[in-house]
Amino acid sequence: MQGKVVVVTGANAGIGKEAAKDLARQGAEVVLVCRSETKGKQAVDEIRCETGNERVSLMLADMSSQASIRAFADAFKKKYTKLDVLLNNAGLVNMERVTTVDGLEATFATNHLGYFLTTLLLLDLLKASEQGRIVNVSSGAHPQASKGLDFDDLQHEKKFSGFSVYAQTKLANIMFTYELARRLEGTSVTVNALHPGVIASNFGQNTRGLMKFFVNAAAPFMITPVKGAQTSIYLASSPEVAGVTGKYFASNRERKSSKASYDVAAQKRLWDLSEELTGMRSAARRAA
Ligand SMILES: NC(=O)c1ccc[n+]([C@@H]2O[C@H](COP(=O)([O-])OP(=O)(O)OC[C@H]3O[C@@H](n4cnc5c(N)ncnc54)[C@H](OP(=O)(O)O)[C@@H]3O)[C@@H](O)[C@H]2O)c1
Repeated sequence: MQGKVVVVTGANAGIGKEAAKDLARQGAEVVLVCRSETKGKQAVDEIRCETGNERVSLMLADMSSQASIRAFADAFKKKYTKLDVLLNNAGLVNMERVTTVDGLEATFATNHLGYFLTTLLLLDLLKASEQGRIVNVSSGAHPQASKGLDFDDLQHEKKFSGFSVYAQTKLANIMFTYELARRLEGTSVTVNALHPGVIASNFGQNTRGLMKFFVNAAAPFMITPVKGAQTSIYLASSPEVAGVTGKYFASNRERKSSKASYDVAAQKRLWDLSEELTGMRSAARRAA
């Protein structure tokens, strides 16, 4: 990974931090994108110290805020002329419906629109790389959204169930991956999604009720963040997947995702809505 520039979102904890560490160990210049300056600085220090790679730095962005993502992308573009790997990893599950500064439901805004907007804003730099890679961390929970995305209530105003909303956002990660892969045909940029495994990280610590019961019940079987980071690292760095795009992986192997994820009309509808919700459609129109 010598000479490669890598961005990892949500890199101060869990599998994001472990992936950032491994890619730094492989020689990449790694930018950790975190919302907390304190936690981000601690992660940078830890990664520099453990890998001996000094080209590890922090940039701040709250992935639930579109202004914050835009400010990060602007700052990144001032510093770098290319991006080799974008690892979209920051994610969370909320037990209650909360809204972001943009007035959007926070799980959807962070887990899906965060990936969408960050990717679109950095796409020019990914195209400037010899072989840009976008890696979207999804989840094996996505088939729980078996009926697909609830387009009639994407903001979950009528009904809110934390796990169901989370599953829909992770389905959205895969649908976004498939649609983006089609749109990137003819370029050298690849995009793939993955399930990292069930990991003993900070994820889900804020849950309660039935979900907390399941999190606790799964605890003895959970893998470490180091193990959970392996498929992200593989897709970000392995020569084996250099030309592979528009696929879903788990344990370093291509897998089938849920039936709902392959609905092309729904993928296009999600893209259009995401463009509208992030203001990227008017940006595209202005550029045309
Ligand atoms: N854990 C699992 O079993 C599991 C299973 C399948 C998929 N996943 C996926 O794996 C990814 C990473 O999860 P993890 O297990 O490593 O969890 P984690 O330990 O909770 O790490 C999540 C990271 O995302 C960051 N983050 C959350 N909201 C953010 C925001 N608004 N802006 C910027 N950063 C934000 C967190 O920052 P803070 O420290 O500031 O909160 C943290 O760095 C997620 O996308 C999750 O959906 C996890």
